[in-house]
Amino acid sequence: MKRTNYCAELSAADIGKNVAVCGWAHRRRDHGGLIFIDLRDRSGLLQIVFNPEYSVEAHKLAHTIRSEYVLMAKGKVIKRSDETINPKMKTGEIEIAVNELTILNTSKTPPFALDDDSKINEDLRLKYRYLDLRRENVMFPFLVRHKVANIVRNYLNDNNFLEIETPMLTKSTPEGARDYLVPSRVHPGKFFALPQSPQLFKQLFMVAGFDRYFQIVKCFRDEDLRADRQPEFTQIDMELSFIEIDDIFEIIEGMLYKIFKEIRGIEISLPIRKMDYFEAMDKYGCDKPDLRFGLELKEITDLAADSDFQVFKNVVQSGGIIKGITVPNGASLSRKEIDDLITYVGNYGARGMAWFKVTENGLESNIKKYFNDELLKKIQERMVAKIGDLVCFVGSTPKITNFALANLRLHLGEKLGLIDNDKFEFVWIYNFPLFEYDEQTKRYAAMHHPFTSPTDDTIEFMETAPDKVRAKAYDIVLNGNELGGGSLRIYRNDIQKKMFKILNIGEEEAEQKFGFLLNALQYGAPPHGGIALGMDRLIMLLTGVESIRDVIAFPKTQKASCLMTDAPSVVEPSQLKELFLKITIEDKK
Ligand code: AMO
Repeated sequence: MKRTNYCAELSAADIGKNVAVCGWAHRRRDHGGLIFIDLRDRSGLLQIVFNPEYSVEAHKLAHTIRSEYVLMAKGKVIKRSDETINPKMKTGEIEIAVNELTILNTSKTPPFALDDDSKINEDLRLKYRYLDLRRENVMFPFLVRHKVANIVRNYLNDNNFLEIETPMLTKSTPEGARDYLVPSRVHPGKFFALPQSPQLFKQLFMVAGFDRYFQIVKCFRDEDLRADRQPEFTQIDMELSFIEIDDIFEIIEGMLYKIFKEIRGIEISLPIRKMDYFEAMDKYGCDKPDLRFGLELKEITDLAADSDFQVFKNVVQSGGIIKGITVPNGASLSRKEIDDLITYVGNYGARGMAWFKVTENGLESNIKKYFNDELLKKIQERMVAKIGDLVCFVGSTPKITNFALANLRLHLGEKLGLIDNDKFEFVWIYNFPLFEYDEQTKRYAAMHHPFTSPTDDTIEFMETAPDKVRAKAYDIVLNGNELGGGSLRIYRNDIQKKMFKILNIGEEEAEQKFGFLLNALQYGAPPHGGIALGMDRLIMLLTGVESIRDVIAFPKTQKASCLMTDAPSVVEPSQLKELFLKITIEDKK
């Protein structure tokens, strides 16, 4: 077999050449004795033509071709007649006059048409993923993914990084999700955990003196799935020694610049803007703001406290906050549309939503009577609302208020058509709190992970006022998506121990879980830090697809299963026996 060209590589410049092409019969048309096949390979489509004048034998054989048969065709590249030129096709000016055809394989009729524009049930697509992937639009993100991996490797290599692998069979890592466990045959009753990230190993690389490490690496987290989450995903992971936060920003910005330039022809303007965590929470209600549009949140807790509106007063008294959003031209929304917004914020925990329409006479609404004129004027000013706008307020705990309004903001951004899909708005969020207090367990947890260093100016509060301590942590956010996150690490054993203490991780537990790290920190650990970008999310945003399932060749469903292989599945009793395991499935309550 000697293929000379990929299908879509050929063009008018090749007219007159004898070529051999291979691929799948994508579409077939018979026209008065002539047979036309669109032959498809990874590069795209090419029309091949069977005419008894070119070869009686090939023409005869071509009658037996059906969808998805695998063909090799040899013949001459010819120009199409003017009226048959197809400007929509990359190879639309030419066709192959076939003089030799080999049918390399036949095919059953596929369970769905492989035309790019057909909408197919996702379960069916995933069951026959190898057919789904044949479709040009479906294959495209993988070509981008390959290019990005190459750009990343070359860029990091040029910047002195070493690509080193870390173990997959390891010990539980503290990224906050549930582990996937692997039972050990050799050690009955003991388990490996698949890594949630290479976090601890990459820190040990720094202790070992590798200085700059990177890895494009699989990570495993057993967590509830969403459009941007998979149980098995890929990180562009790195760690560096003897650096400051700005060095990490510079490396990542250079890398993103190269990727966006080479893949999309877009020049990101550098440096990427930075936003303090509290500013992000204040203005956008979340730590991953979509900056492609405005609609900033404004707080009116002080003004609401002076009103007679009992709902708001109760919120203020119990330590809550009241924040709002101004909907441009929202006064024209119908009562039903406003009710829909109320239901919407309800999905995010808000018990209700107060609103006013802005009219010639100021703010109007059925709760207006609880506010005096001066307050109404001040609220309108604070909300920067003009006649014809609608102002909406949520009052609850800071967490719920921000969560509900952050989501309302995104909803309105979409509903009002404020989001430009061709825009790429990056932002660094930094200065995160080091701890977050968990109301349920009444304990502090690490907001990033327990190896993140406190900032120099807040470290003194670690034991006395943990809420005041900020972290040397940062996230890179793109269009409202958390693309990556990292931190400078604790590199002194005494501070790491203090951290565990605040997190209520006892000495014994710390020793058992992270003893190897605590040990390593006693042997001259250099100052170090790093970051990991979500490779799948990056490709998703670069290619504009809707879900990270579209950039993972064999993804899991929302229910964390693979419809093609039927994994996870039951195993042979003999396998369980070998592992000293017995399965008891208790009823789910
Ligand atoms: P973090 O947990 O923030 O940091 O993860 C880094 C990035 O990985 C991506 N990501 C995911 N992508 C798809 N599916 C998931 N389930 C998923 N979980 C995370 C996100 C996220 O920003 N060890 C630290 C990094 C460090 O400190 O250097 C870590 O893993 O894009």
